[in-house]
Parts: sequence; structure tokens; C-alpha cells
Amino acid sequence: MSLIKTIDKLKNEIRNIQNGKILNIGFVPTMGYLHEGHLSLIKKAREDNDLVVVSIFVNPTQFGKNEDLDSYPKDIDRDFKLAVDSGADIVFNPEVEEIYTKNSCTFVNVEGDLTKKLCGLSRPTHFKGVTTIVAKLFNIVRPKNAYFGEKDAQQVAIIEKMVEDLNFDINIISCPLVREDDGLALSSRNVYLSKEEREQALILSESLFKAKELYLNGEKDAKKLKEFIENKINSKNLARIDYVEILDAKTLEEIDVIKTKTIIALAVKFGKTRLIDNIYLEV
Ligand code: PAJ
Repeated sequence: MSLIKTIDKLKNEIRNIQNGKILNIGFVPTMGYLHEGHLSLIKKAREDNDLVVVSIFVNPTQFGKNEDLDSYPKDIDRDFKLAVDSGADIVFNPEVEEIYTKNSCTFVNVEGDLTKKLCGLSRPTHFKGVTTIVAKLFNIVRPKNAYFGEKDAQQVAIIEKMVEDLNFDINIISCPLVREDDGLALSSRNVYLSKEEREQALILSESLFKAKELYLNGEKDAKKLKEFIENKINSKNLARIDYVEILDAKTLEEIDVIKTKTIIALAVKFGKTRLIDNIYLEV
């Protein structure tokens, strides 16, 4: 179990463990401050692979100018222990300068609609930062399988597209969203919420669960479900909706009537904290 800070040491460590054999490497990229959502990915990677690498790196290129890069929560000692207890063999925790050298000027960007809608509207440079770091980490770790959470459904779709377009020989495994017992989607950013914001934020999962119930009882009209959710969220005085969208789960195209597997995705701000959540509707 090692905590590694440099690319060279990481490559050496992987080579030493491999010792000439071909081992399946499972990779879980994270920004740290680990919670059960992250740990579910690590546990799944442990089940599927010979060697499990977890990265903990708060990636500056995916944060916008007025976002929370400087205040993003960190606790590497706790994270290392949690990652190892969940099955990680190696935790890679580089400094920013190790990943982005002074001369670094190459980015990976998925062009087109996928990165422009939903979170891409209010965070126009975000996904370019995500695909750049994930591509770099894929080249450093060279995994067979890489694990991502459906909590960030748009991120999964974009990474799948990047892997297809750039011919990465890597399986992208998406894993279910993990919630607190009371329904709040787990997120490292939940620690920013005040007591009152935390209470009001429960409306997100509540309205998604209720909308699913309406759907299961026969409501197939996407606009009606969207209005239902928006009204419920707007009943909370601290909530500011960024988006509520009802989309085909595969293409992330907007739909009017639910006929194929569908995702309801939303982003809502409580004070300075922007939360995202989603739910799938099966047909
Ligand atoms: P981060 O937000 O730390 O999330 C790391 C991984 O954990 C992502 O795949 C995310 O979808 C997953 N995850 C987060 N909360 C989850 C939850 N409640 N249930 C299930 N999975 C959850 O996403 C990132 O970091 C970054 O963009 C990254 C991919 C590491 C690139 O910097």
C-alpha cells in the first residue's frame, strides 16, 4: 500500500508489482475528501482487478475563475486510510506542478453538444479540464478498467466519448449514485452546506423520487415532470435552480415523451454550494 507523489515513482511501482506479468489495473480517479460514493468505486475496482490505483488530485483546470478551487476540502491522511481499507493498492497524490509543468499547453476537449449542455452551460471550461486530466491520468496509469460514478452522469458520457474518439484501450465502468440515509447525494462539497441549507437540499432527492413515482404511476410527459420538480425545489427559499432536465439516458438529448431509458438531471445552488443529482427512469 503506497502513497505516491510523482509520476516516475508511480510508473516504477506499477512495473515492480507487475514483475513482467500482465495484471489488470483498475483505476479510480478522484479529487479526494473521500466518501462512500468514492469508496463504492474503489470496492468495485477491487472486485474486478489485480491492481487498484486511486488518484487524489484537485485538478485546477476543471475549476472556473470564481469556483471553489482554493477552498476545496482536503484530508490526505484520512483519504489514504479510507482508500486502502476499501481495496486500493496505490494512492497517487501528485502536486499540481507534477501534472501541469510550466510549459504544458495541450488540452483534450470533447467538442459538440455533450459538453455544452447541462453543467457545461454554467461551467463552460469545466469539461475541458476534466477530459484533459483524465486523459493524462489514463496515460500515466494505463489501466484496463476505469471507474466513474453515475452521480456525474454527464461526465461519464463525455469520458466515454473521449475514450471512443481517442481510441483509448480502456473500459469505462459506471457505478450507481450513492446517497446519505436521508437521500442527499453524497458529495465532497456537502461539507460547505449550512445546517439550514443541508435541510433544504433534501428537496432535490425528494422531488426526484416523487417524480419517479409519478412516472411509475403513468406520467410520461417530460414537461409535466420537469415542472413538478421545479415547483417543489422553488418552494425552498434558499434554492436557486441552475437546471432541471429530462433526457434520453444514452444520448443526453432532451425528450418530450418518455419512451426510452431516461435520466432526470438537476443542478441547484444553495448559497455558494452547487449540488447536482439525478435519477434514472427505466422503461
Ligand atoms: P470527484 O468529484 O472526487 O469524484 C470522483 C468519482 O467519484 C467520480 O467518478 C464521481 O462521479 C464519483 N462520485 C462522486 N460522488 C458520488 C456518489 N455520491 N455516488 C457515486 N459516485 C460518486 O469527478 C471528479 O472527482 C473529477 O471530475 C475527476 C473525474 C477525478 C477528474 O478530476
